[in-house]
Amino acid sequence: MLDRQDRIERTLNGLLPAAELAPARLHAAMRYAVLGGGKRVRPLLAYGAGELSGAEERRVDRAAAAVELIHAYSLVHDDLPCMDDDVLRRGKPTVHLEFDEATALLVGDSLQSLAFQVISEQPMTDAAGRQVEMVGLLAHACGSRGMAGGQAIDLDATGKTLAVTELEFMHVHKTGALVRASVALGARCGDALSQSQFNALDHFGKFIGLAFQVVDDVLDAQSSTATLGKTAGKDAKNNKPTYVSALGLDGARKFAAELRDDALRALDTLPRNGGRLRQLADFIVLRRF
Ligand code: IPE
Ligand code: IPE
Ligand code: MG
Ligand code: MG
Ligand code: MG
Repeated sequence: MLDRQDRIERTLNGLLPAAELAPARLHAAMRYAVLGGGKRVRPLLAYGAGELSGAEERRVDRAAAAVELIHAYSLVHDDLPCMDDDVLRRGKPTVHLEFDEATALLVGDSLQSLAFQVISEQPMTDAAGRQVEMVGLLAHACGSRGMAGGQAIDLDATGKTLAVTELEFMHVHKTGALVRASVALGARCGDALSQSQFNALDHFGKFIGLAFQVVDDVLDAQSSTATLGKTAGKDAKNNKPTYVSALGLDGARKFAAELRDDALRALDTLPRNGGRLRQLADFIVLRRF
């Protein structure tokens, strides 16, 4: 994990425009948002899936970077006063506080564009058609039928009580879609998997993506600001419906464990039973931050 976290840090550092390049303030803010923080779970999933599909690591680098750039953009916007209104992210002041709101908006816009540049400007597979498909897959995962749509549902649900099925729909979109895409994109960088193995991997991505947000809800309620590097207790304060408000802490923890079991079962048909993805599933569900 440490090797790959280091690898993605170097990759992102090389892909982001230099801080001195005009417009310097925007570029400095983009680098502030992306570098030096975060668990890099989505890139780790892409590398894990890429390894199973026999992909060269240097090809997975760009898929991994693209999903992390989209993720970082989503965090910058999620923290804005018009959304969750947060002051702390990855242990640092949020981008709109360190810089300003307009810059934070543009950081998100620019990181999103950079993600699509990164995933399209160099070959990541020998099949040109497949790379176009990958660009479409990323677009779907972060658009109104994916992350951004999930965020819209989240804002609309604030102050309301959701049924568990509605909660699942929201979480699968706002967080699950990009996690699932991270796995699918990594897998598409190689050729070693059959269609049925690819489908099993996608199943894994779907379950672990939902589990990721269930655990995020649990940590918000049970952990501390110092451990999380973001404000704890924010969901209750903002009146957000979460798995904790719907099922209680123990119920939410139990559900996350069930999702992990489902995800792990999906890996059974894959080479080395899913290899590092098994460990990542454990990390996602057992993490403390
Ligand atoms: C937090 O994501 C926001 C969600 C989508 C749940 P992460 O927990 O992956 O945040 P970082 O990247 O490690 O900071
Ligand atoms: C964020 O969900 C999902 C995103 C698409 C960014 P949260 O609002 O729960 O994420 P945190 O807890 O602020 O990291
Ligand atoms: Mg939010
Ligand atoms: Mg938030
Ligand atoms: Mg949260």
